[in-house]
Amino acid sequence: MTLIVAIDSLSVEEAEKLARSLCTWVAGFKVGLPFLLVNGVRSLSGLRGACPEKLWVADLKLADIGHVMKLVTSSVASYVDAVIAHGFIGVRGALDELKEYLVSLGKKLIVVVSMSHPGAEEVYDKALPSILGVVAKLRPWGVVAPATRPAIIHEARETLGQGVKILSPGIGAQGARPGEALCAGADYEIIGRLITEAGDPVASAEEVLRKQREMLRKCRG
Ligand code: XMP
Repeated sequence: MTLIVAIDSLSVEEAEKLARSLCTWVAGFKVGLPFLLVNGVRSLSGLRGACPEKLWVADLKLADIGHVMKLVTSSVASYVDAVIAHGFIGVRGALDELKEYLVSLGKKLIVVVSMSHPGAEEVYDKALPSILGVVAKLRPWGVVAPATRPAIIHEARETLGQGVKILSPGIGAQGARPGEALCAGADYEIIGRLITEAGDPVASAEEVLRKQREMLRKCRG
């Protein structure tokens, strides 16, 4: 399974309905800060209950000292399987502490190596070799790399090997097409608005899955 649905702007009821209807088809769900700030962390309990066995990721955009990232993570840890943190903050006193904490809870760390918006070329991409060095040292479960710039996905895969999962946002609203990131070496595509803001989110997710399969058939032959 290759699709992770990003939940940012739905109400709790809409999100639960979506999670229930897509549960069989998706690898998991990523819950963002907008959803958590509006609905509260406790809403994750019911939301997860709508599709308990899949991968649930909290995208809290962590970029702080280890102590604070652990405090933030502790508020969501019982509801999710993984959390995302930025890679530019480095290992010592930050990502090393967060990873150790997550491992102690049996949870996964996902590190951003670059972002999907155009401005990521201004700073993030320039630091890519250093950030991939951080990831190689840290060995998190996964990394986030942009579907909008498949060359970054290729480079991450080449440098980090098959032992790390690559999750790619940037499809639909940000311009990349379903399947493009998978063809470049990603394991999962993270898709939000293309699905959540569609008139029929379930039909939109099915269409995304069909397009992913079609694209993979073409690129893998
Ligand atoms: P859309 O609606 O654009 O939502 O499909 C994409 C989701 O992914 C998140 N996002 C990112 N997260 N690095 C990240 O860690 C990125 O480069 C990135 N780009 C998008 C965004 O927050 C939304 O939930």
